[in-house]
Amino acid sequence: MKKIAVIYHSGYGHTAFFANKVAEGAVATKKVEVEVLTVEQATARMDTLSQFDGMIWGSPTYMGNVSGPFKTFMDASGSVWMKQGWSGKWAAGFTVSGSPSGDKQSTLISLTVLAAQHGMFWMPLMMTNETYAGVKPDDAVNRLGSSLGAMAQAGQVAPEVAFAPGDLKTATLFGAKFAEIVATKS
Ligand SMILES: Cc1cc2nc3c(=O)[nH]c(=O)nc-3n(C[C@H](O)[C@H](O)[C@H](O)COP(=O)(O)O)c2cc1C
Repeated sequence: MKKIAVIYHSGYGHTAFFANKVAEGAVATKKVEVEVLTVEQATARMDTLSQFDGMIWGSPTYMGNVSGPFKTFMDASGSVWMKQGWSGKWAAGFTVSGSPSGDKQSTLISLTVLAAQHGMFWMPLMMTNETYAGVKPDDAVNRLGSSLGAMAQAGQVAPEVAFAPGDLKTATLFGAKFAEIVATKS
């Protein structure tokens, strides 16, 4: 069976919560093995990450971009870049912000560039904003209208109650879609 990793940083638990929803969606397909790793765990085993057929990266948006710890993971992956060890594998990304916009597009662009530097195939979100189909904004898949990857907005409350239902649906569908792609196209 193909293997994927969900690799994330989370300062206050919101991105961790979302990352686990993404992983749940992937696991539910029963088509791939899934590991969830923090960036610290992933960096510590950088040399072994090429065993995964695909990686989903997640970072909170801090100051309009990936968080510092996530950037540390990106920089540490330079050792793999030297060998193009992830070339031809699949990648996708998500981010969680506090504000509805919060400049989180920049975060997804950074993740996309990381994939390109590594010669990876990028899976975009590929989900229409369901509000166009008349679904209530809070319940709508891709309610924030992203294309590059999954976006979510979390309130300044505990992760379990911080997300709109639509964002959590987006997370599980995103994980499932990535699992299908890796299982069938790698
Ligand atoms: C240092 C810092 C910078 C932040 N910068 C932004 C930002 O640029 N835009 C935004 O919408 N939210 C910003 N936030 C809010 C976080 O994105 C939001 O609280 C998110 O849910 C945090 O995820 P986490 O709990 O996984 O760390 C920032 C939070 C921190 C701590």
